[in-house]
Amino acid sequence: ASFTLHAREEVGSTNDEVRLLAETGAQDRTVVWALRQSAGRGRQGRTWVSPEGNLYFSLLLRPEVAIAEAANLSFVAALALADAIKKINPEITPSLKWPNDVLVSSKKISGVLLESKSTASGALDFLIMGIGVNIRTYPGDARYPATSLLEQGGCDNLSPGDLLSAFLNSFDPWYKVWKKDGFMAIRSAWLDQAHGIGKTIYVRLPHQTLSGRFVTIDKDGALDLELDSGEQCLVTA
Ligand code: BTN
Repeated sequence: ASFTLHAREEVGSTNDEVRLLAETGAQDRTVVWALRQSAGRGRQGRTWVSPEGNLYFSLLLRPEVAIAEAANLSFVAALALADAIKKINPEITPSLKWPNDVLVSSKKISGVLLESKSTASGALDFLIMGIGVNIRTYPGDARYPATSLLEQGGCDNLSPGDLLSAFLNSFDPWYKVWKKDGFMAIRSAWLDQAHGIGKTIYVRLPHQTLSGRFVTIDKDGALDLELDSGEQCLVTA
C-alpha cells in the first residue's frame, strides 16, 4: 500500500493539518510533512520546538479496531522509527523508552504524539500519529536529556525527507504485523529493545513522579512497575 504525501514548508502543527484533512474524508495513510512547525505540540500539553532541519510529520490511520486497541499503535511507531534509524546508520543502536520515545545513547531522539477521534457511536473514526525526530538540533532544556542524529555521528547528509521515506518503508511491515497478529507480536519486538528493563526507572506523570523497577509491559502496553514498597503497579500512558 502507498502513502499520500502532503509536503509543506511551515505549518502550526502537522497533527492539526492531518486532522483537517481527516475531517474532510482523507484516506488511511495520508501524511503531512513540514520543514518547520510554529506550534508543534508534545505529549502532556508540552511544546515541541520545531526549527528547520529536523523531521516533523503526521500520519493518518483508519484501522478498524476499538479506540483502546489503537492506542498501542504508538509502540508500532517507535519500532518502525528504530528500524529506520538502523537502516540509515547500522552503527546506531536505538532503544525504546516507555511509552513511545526512541532513545540513542540513552538520550531522547524522537517522540510520538497520538491523537484520535471517535464516531458518535464511540468507535474509532481516525487516528493521527505525529512524529518528531531530532536530526540536526534538539532543545537543550528538555526535561529528559536529548540528542540528535547529527550528534550521534554518521548522519551528516541526512535530510528529513530521506528519514521520512525510511520510516514509511519500515512502518508498513510493522503495521501489517499489528493488524494481522495484534499487539502481542509488537510487544515482544518492543521489549527486545526496551530501555531500562529490570532497572529502577522514574515515570513522570502529570501530577507526580513514580519510581520503581521496570518489570515489563502488559498485553495492552501498560507499564508494569514494582514500586519501592514492593507493590506492583500498572501505569497507562
Ligand atoms: C513527545 O515526545 O512529547 C511527542 C512529540 C511529538 C512531536 C511531533 S512533531 C510532528 C507532530 N506535530 C506536532 O505538533 N507534534 C508531533
